Amino acid sequence: MHDGFDRTARIVGLGGYLPERVMTNRDLEAFVETSDDWITTRTGIKERRMVADDEALVDLIERAGTAALADAGLDPAAVDLLIVATATVEQPIPATSAIVQPRLGVTNAACFDLSAACSGFTYGLNVARQFIATGEATTVLVVGAECLTRYLDWTDRTTCVLFGDGAGAVVLQPAPQGEGILQIAWRTDGSLADIISMPGGGCRYPPSSMESIHRRLPFIKMRGNETFKVAVRALTEISQSVLEAAGIGVDQVDLFIPHQANQRIIQAVGQRLGLRDEQVFSNVHRVGNTSAASIPLAMVDARDQGRMRRGDLVLASSFGGGLTWASSLFRY
Ligand code: ACO
Repeated sequence: MHDGFDRTARIVGLGGYLPERVMTNRDLEAFVETSDDWITTRTGIKERRMVADDEALVDLIERAGTAALADAGLDPAAVDLLIVATATVEQPIPATSAIVQPRLGVTNAACFDLSAACSGFTYGLNVARQFIATGEATTVLVVGAECLTRYLDWTDRTTCVLFGDGAGAVVLQPAPQGEGILQIAWRTDGSLADIISMPGGGCRYPPSSMESIHRRLPFIKMRGNETFKVAVRALTEISQSVLEAAGIGVDQVDLFIPHQANQRIIQAVGQRLGLRDEQVFSNVHRVGNTSAASIPLAMVDARDQGRMRRGDLVLASSFGGGLTWASSLFRY
């Protein structure tokens, strides 16, 4: 990457956490007008995880962040920046990253939250790389975490069958250019903001307003069919642009980790990029769409299955509300 800096960032630790409670398609059939067959054929999803009644976002972040720090073999006090990417904050004030800071023991870290929906983790990776490249930070913990099941309208079958909860995290430290994160790209198109949204719960429609409650506004809304088409186009374009900028051919990519929203999107993007099936990673069947947690949770599964090994060239591309999309090419 020719950005004037002599250093970039590399992943030195990786960890994830999924809540224990499993919600299968068959479980959904009991209270949603849907079927295992419809969900499987249209999305590839078979089951997803759900927080327990006494769990919330920081519980997931604590587990994932602690696992990533242990994987890096680092004292939490070494972390100087914590970025939590989420669309489902613990509470409006203070930031989720600040609430979880003492639990993680990252007492020397400046903390902020990042909101880019499903692209949040990849945006966070790019932001962290920039802080490390400039010398502003040396050890950054980036977490992608969501409690989406708390924001689902269980009477809306077009959304409630798609999402799940979880958290994934990486620790980044400096690396010479040519190692670690090689190339990044990120984009936003706010003119399409209403395709994926949660209109209530903010200052336009406060959670307490009767309008918010009556119109069921504090829930995820998505025009799935339109999202599908934009997602395929955007993920393909940004992945190609990152590979081109890095001078890397598709054959050289060891693993492509796309946002895990829908198996048909994953397949369509893989085909358009000219990737072989074994280069494309998917775990959407067992976790559903975990939004900002999607890419790091897929990275954890890929590592644990031996499909992402140290030194491998990995392309991670995400897409979500905003609309936002982003891509990061890195050597693991
Ligand atoms: N069970 C049974 N039937 C259903 C269900 C369901 N759960 N949901 C919808 N249907 C019905 C619809 O009502 C419709 O019926 P009709 O033909 O009688 O009107 C029919 O199935 C087809 O609906 P479509 O919306 O056209 O189905 P599609 O094939 O597009 O699949 C889906 C829908 C799975 C949502 C798909 O469009 C998709 O995955 N979109 C992309 C999602 C995505 O990528 N999101 C990423 C970002 S998310 C974020 O940022 C938070």
